[in-house]
Amino acid sequence: MNDPHIWWYVSRASAIVAWSLLTATVLWGVLLSTRVLRAADDPAWLKDLHRYLSGTAIAMTLVHVGSLLLDPYLRDQAGFGIVAVLVPFASEFKPLPVALGIVALYLMGAVGLSSLAMRWIPRRAWKGLHLLSYAVVALVAFHAAFAGSDTGMWWYIMVSTALIVVSTLAVVVRQLVGSVAAQRRRSAARARSVGSARHGAGRLRMVVADRVPLADGVVGLRLVPEHGGPVPVWSPGSHVTLHLPGGLERQYSLCGDPADRRSLDIAVQLAEPSRGGSRFIHASLHTGDVIEVWLPRNHFELEPATDYLFIAGGIGITALTSMIASLPASRRWSLVYLGRSRRSMPFAAELEARYPGRATVYAADERGGRYPAAAEAAVCGAQVYCCGPARLMDDVAAAVPPERLHLERFVPVDRASAVVARPLDVEMPGVGSFRVPADRSILDVLEDAGAPVTGSCRTGVCGTCELRVLGGAPLHLDSVADDADKDAAGVMYPCVSRAVSPQLLLDL
Ligand code: FES
Repeated sequence: MNDPHIWWYVSRASAIVAWSLLTATVLWGVLLSTRVLRAADDPAWLKDLHRYLSGTAIAMTLVHVGSLLLDPYLRDQAGFGIVAVLVPFASEFKPLPVALGIVALYLMGAVGLSSLAMRWIPRRAWKGLHLLSYAVVALVAFHAAFAGSDTGMWWYIMVSTALIVVSTLAVVVRQLVGSVAAQRRRSAARARSVGSARHGAGRLRMVVADRVPLADGVVGLRLVPEHGGPVPVWSPGSHVTLHLPGGLERQYSLCGDPADRRSLDIAVQLAEPSRGGSRFIHASLHTGDVIEVWLPRNHFELEPATDYLFIAGGIGITALTSMIASLPASRRWSLVYLGRSRRSMPFAAELEARYPGRATVYAADERGGRYPAAAEAAVCGAQVYCCGPARLMDDVAAAVPPERLHLERFVPVDRASAVVARPLDVEMPGVGSFRVPADRSILDVLEDAGAPVTGSCRTGVCGTCELRVLGGAPLHLDSVADDADKDAAGVMYPCVSRAVSPQLLLDL
């Protein structure tokens, strides 16, 4: 400690270590966000390592700043004080490179704090702040290249060149993967839009490749494209609409792993009483038959989160199986699967065997009473995904705050009876303007006018009739999605919804 250069050595070493750790954590973050590590995905330790690298990088940066203040040469000869290391452009020593380093320090702090507060801030805000990591890497590279006292030495040039190359590659890979993913999302959205908007388009002819009994009253269908090839891209929570004889259309959640593009798998429960769809499938749809299927749509998206609680009642398990299958092996989640008896619960044995300790199957005829699913959901703190009978979902909805709640209903909530329907005017660019009487739906009027819209369930649960709202204020009466989400996305479901404003401007 008697060496007068000791703090100079410390500041040099801490700067190089901090820079290396920063590069490593950004690279690690890119590997995580682009799912390169999916095969060995164990987010508990992968993410811990990311956090550890980030935290250590911040700690070493603070050591670097502290040692600069303690260095007698910088303090006495260069006038380096607390203001010079904390306020951009206050340093007379290499003001621009030092200022860039100071800005990088603050951005690094913002990214670190936002990660610590991730649970309490909107995901989009956290993501936006996290992207600042790339700016930090660039600023630190400039800072290190021009502010350091070792900048001309061969070893420093080698180390800094390696770090800059690695971080540049990480950013380029992130951008490329991000734009490919965005392109895929746009294509899928376009395909969905076409499928829902133009009757006939967006349909696939598919063959029933396999048909198996999954439980009492539940049959599983494996559908493959009639002319071969992979099935359309779909995401966890998606459903397909089957076109059945007599103009019937029925929606069924997709089961299994979305990464498996060989087939679309659904499970169909025989409804009691059946309105015709499930009865036809159970009685008359056989292996080798060809049916028309609309491209998968998703109104029950699996949002990124650290903890999930899945609650399924009976056939509601189908949508949740795809969510569970898509999660990395050690993501924190648990499943509560409720039903009257195991015999009537598809996938129950498979889920229990595959996910011991995570999947709880509660068959009422074995244990009696009711499982306190809503109470568990209320206190768990996880994102809650629930699909099942209306009573179960109403209980869960009453117990869980909206920001943690995700429901998929297949029986609509009666929202219309609390509203007095009034006539309204609807305009659709390129189609015309129409008066919608109080006793007719917007969808019916648009269809009669020849607008290229279409509906399926006509009760506000399937999402097929989705339209964009260009003007006016819709009155959402559907059960497809949360009203705030629909307003944020600028969409409405005209089979049941109406308007708060006297007019609506709608588009496909
Ligand atoms: S037709 Fe199903 S939500 Fe409108």
